[in-house]
Order: sequence, then C-alpha cells, then structure tokens
Amino acid sequence: MTVRPLQYPNPPLADDLVQLRPWSEKDLPAIEEASRDPQVPMGTTVPEVFTPAEGRAFVHRQHSRLLKGEGVSLAVADAQTGVASGLVILRRRPQPGVGGVGYWIIPSARGRGMASRAVDLITTWGLASLDLHRVEAWVTRDNLASQGVLESAGFEREGLLRKFLILSGEPRDVYVYARLTPVLPG
Ligand SMILES: CC(C)(COP(=O)(O)OP(=O)(O)OC[C@H]1O[C@@H](n2cnc3c(N)ncnc32)[C@H](O)[C@@H]1OP(=O)(O)O)[C@@H](O)C(=O)NCCC(=O)NCCS
Repeated sequence: MTVRPLQYPNPPLADDLVQLRPWSEKDLPAIEEASRDPQVPMGTTVPEVFTPAEGRAFVHRQHSRLLKGEGVSLAVADAQTGVASGLVILRRRPQPGVGGVGYWIIPSARGRGMASRAVDLITTWGLASLDLHRVEAWVTRDNLASQGVLESAGFEREGLLRKFLILSGEPRDVYVYARLTPVLPG
C-alpha cells in the first residue's frame, strides 16, 4: 500500500457549526482553558499548568505532527467567528490503513455538538481522501460524553480492551469504536 504524505485538508473542513483549521498562536486562550479541566491534560499533551511558553510549544507540537507524518491535528473553531474551542486529531496507527481519532472541547463550548461534527468531518475526510479504510477511537468506560460523540459521528462499538490504556498511572479498560465508511451510516 502506498502511503501518501500528509497535508492539511484542502479545501478546509467546515460546516454550519464548526471549521477545522491549523493551530495558531492566537489560540492560546483555548489551550489555557483546556489545561484547567483535568480530563484534558490526562490523555493529551495539553500542559497541566499553562504558561504562554507552554501554550506556544503545544501549538508547535501540533504542526510537527504533520511534518513528521504522524497525523493531522486541527483546531475546532466556531464556523462564524473562527475562535478555537477544541482539538481534533487523526493519527496514523501502526497498522497500514488504520487511523485513530482524538478530540477535546473546552468546557465553555461543550454540549453544542462541536465534537460530534468535528469527528464526523475529519473521519469522512480520512476515509475518503487519505489511504485509510478504518478510523478507530479508544474511550474509557466511564466517559459517556465521548461515547456519545462517537455514536453521533457514526462509529460502532466493537468491544472492550481490558487494562489497555494507562491514564494517571492506572491501567484503564477502554471501549474500541470504529467507522469504516466515509458516508455517515444512516
Ligand atoms: C467528550 C467531549 C469532547 C464532548 O464534547 P461536546 O462538544 O460537548 O460533545 P457533543 O456536544 O458533540 O455531544 C455528543 C453527544 O454526547 C452526548 N453527551 C454529551 N455530554 C454527555 C454526558 N456527560 N453524558 C452523556 N452523554 C453526553 C450529547 O448529548 C451528544 O449526543 P447527541 O448527539 O445524541 O445529542 C468533551 O466533553 C471533552 O472534551 N471532554 C474531555 C476530554 C475527553 O474526554 N476527550 C475524549 C477522549 S476519548
């Protein structure tokens, strides 16, 4: 299988609620708010203690994922204002043709469907425009909001991986979810 070099989506991914765009140093307020919710730094590289320098390093790490061919990390921004409220990332898993999706939304922007739309948009793009035939996600058993995101974005729960992810030093059970088709299942 030929692996194509990664590029940011062009045209950019957007709908009436969200636009997904590369991270910028203007997005430090969103990173600062994310760092204050312990759920976000626990499973990501968002700093636990925010400083402007840590915020800028976070932005540069997101761009370096593309340059290293690891994945595409995008800010989830309001479709009208362009203000960032979260992150969605599509990474290459070690298995050829398999991608993994990750996401967070800052507390003040939750409950509006932003995560579901962002996950659907990046998954559709990955399955239609990259060399992926499967996009999967891992989510802890108690993270009902994240399970809701995946179900709204057309992912199917496939099973339970026991003691699969170490979070805050503890091995945790996670559900594995996947989507195989670019068209959102009916
Ligand atoms: C999980 C998270 C991304 C959800 O973001 P969001 O933008 O509020 O999600 P959405 O508004 O798209 O909601 C998605 C679905 O989940 C449901 N949902 C949201 N919060 C919920 C909760 N606490 N319990 C149960 N269901 C919930 C919504 O009702 C919605 O379902 P619907 O489409 O049937 O109406 C956000 O809570 C977050 O960033 N959490 C911390 C980081 C995290 O857990 N990331 C995922 C790691 S796997």
